[in-house]
Amino acid sequence: MPIRPRAPGVFGKHRARCTGRSPSSARKSRPSRYGDAASARVGSNHPSRRQGIRMKLNVNGIEHDIDAPPDMPLLWALRDLIHLTGTKFGCGIAQCGACTVHVDGSPRRACVTPVSTLEGKKILTIEGLSKDGSHPVQRAWAEIDVVQCGYCQSGQIMSAAALLAKIPAPSDTDIDQALSGNICRCGTYPRIRAAVKRAAELGAGHAIAAAPSDLPSMLLPSVTVPARTA
Ligand code: FES
Ligand code: FES
Repeated sequence: MPIRPRAPGVFGKHRARCTGRSPSSARKSRPSRYGDAASARVGSNHPSRRQGIRMKLNVNGIEHDIDAPPDMPLLWALRDLIHLTGTKFGCGIAQCGACTVHVDGSPRRACVTPVSTLEGKKILTIEGLSKDGSHPVQRAWAEIDVVQCGYCQSGQIMSAAALLAKIPAPSDTDIDQALSGNICRCGTYPRIRAAVKRAAELGAGHAIAAAPSDLPSMLLPSVTVPARTA
């Protein structure tokens, strides 16, 4: 039987932490989705069992100090340590695209990207695309009414944004190729294609290039997750 990947949460409060620059913005860590019992079932070589190291992650223009095992996937760090939950867990094995973020402007599957490979790189998540949903890709998505259940959509939008940054006026083939790794179980593909074209008309390529530096730092504060006490 294939091994089912674990969702973000198994690393939880007990194995890693994030210390940001603003103690006043500290948030209490949340319990692991699977709890201590699940953690106890994890083998001794599992990343959640290994020693964390301190590193810096630049996410949406803000530097976060995190303390995590080097092979912790970026998705876990984003959701459990930095508390940016717009990036979703789907398959955990780079097959569905739900976890797509940008790393130095290129789309990347956060579920299979170890945090230790990201120091000095710029990570952009769906939260960083605009401060108020006004980015052309987001406006086009709303205008075309793309979303059904919504689960895949942050990944779809990030893949579309990366495409438009590279090809400001993509063809159907460009769109299909760029988004072929983003699965939508609701079948919103025709609306996604229309929305990408509408975003191109709204000038998405230019806006994407400007996005990270446009973000006010107060919008996405660093967070501090208390270390384990027992
Ligand atoms: S959760 Fe990363 S590709 Fe599916
Ligand atoms: S909108 Fe439901 S999975 Fe894509």
